[in-house]
Amino acid sequence: MVPIEIRDVTLVYDTPGGKVPGVKNVNFNIGASEFVCIVGPSGCGKSTLLNIIAGFLTPVAGEIRIGGKPVTGHGMDRGVVFQDFAQLFPWRTALGNVTFGLEMKGVAKDEREKIAREQLRLVKLEKFTGSYPHHLSGGMQQRVAIARALAYNPAVLLMDEPFAALDALTRDDMQRLLADVWRATRKTVIYVTHNVAEAVYLADRVVVMSPHPGTVKAEIKIELPRPRDPLSVEFLECQKELLGHLGHDANANEPVN
Ligand SMILES: Nc1ncnc2c1ncn2[C@@H]1O[C@H](COP(=O)(O)OP(=O)(O)OP(=O)(O)O)[C@@H](O)[C@H]1O
Ligand SMILES: [Mg+2]
Repeated sequence: MVPIEIRDVTLVYDTPGGKVPGVKNVNFNIGASEFVCIVGPSGCGKSTLLNIIAGFLTPVAGEIRIGGKPVTGHGMDRGVVFQDFAQLFPWRTALGNVTFGLEMKGVAKDEREKIAREQLRLVKLEKFTGSYPHHLSGGMQQRVAIARALAYNPAVLLMDEPFAALDALTRDDMQRLLADVWRATRKTVIYVTHNVAEAVYLADRVVVMSPHPGTVKAEIKIELPRPRDPLSVEFLECQKELLGHLGHDANANEPVN
């Protein structure tokens, strides 16, 4: 889809208690159609960075370019999915949520419903187009959020721990589904997660951040063939390597944070 350049990006939050560093001098590139995961301990600036890329926050220094164009605010070239189930419009059906961005774009009713149904089919919700969010499980709501983000065909998909609030089994299903959706759409994806196994399952490359102030500590390529087997020796080796970069004992079998 499109490459992304992140150049010397720094953000400081101004709070009543003083200045709080968000991220500092972050530099990396993301290739067209690349799936990049950002991992790091709580408070290292992952969400801050994603919100800057989304155009919801403006850095105090540095610049982000998407397809060569500087980011100056939010735009339809970026679809965003958050962790929070409440990101959907509760008064709209699944279909109504997915058509929203297309309405904003001025797409005619028949056409936008056709596109929305196709996106809901991609996330396996074709039978739930008429359901309201409160009648859907957490996993289903997150699938609607993904369909909604994809519906207006953004070049880039930005995801902030979209499956973190789901139970482990649903989360595994959702990771498989997202890997399939990515294969089918070839979006450029930036995906924030705490979960090392999730990063190794999904990413072409993992960017590891360290806190105080939030900077990039390492970049690790994941060269395992897809679909990936989380129980294979190679997968576990990658996980160990990543845990090592996060400063965890590579032999400790514990989740990060
Ligand atoms: N709205 C805000 N106002 C002030 N400080 C903030 C704000 N949002 C984040 N911060 C601070 O900026 C730093 C980075 O926070 P951020 O939310 O980006 O971290 P994170 O890596 O996403 O953490 P988590 O894994 O817990 O979601 C932290 O020190 C945090 O306290
Ligand atoms: Mg966060």
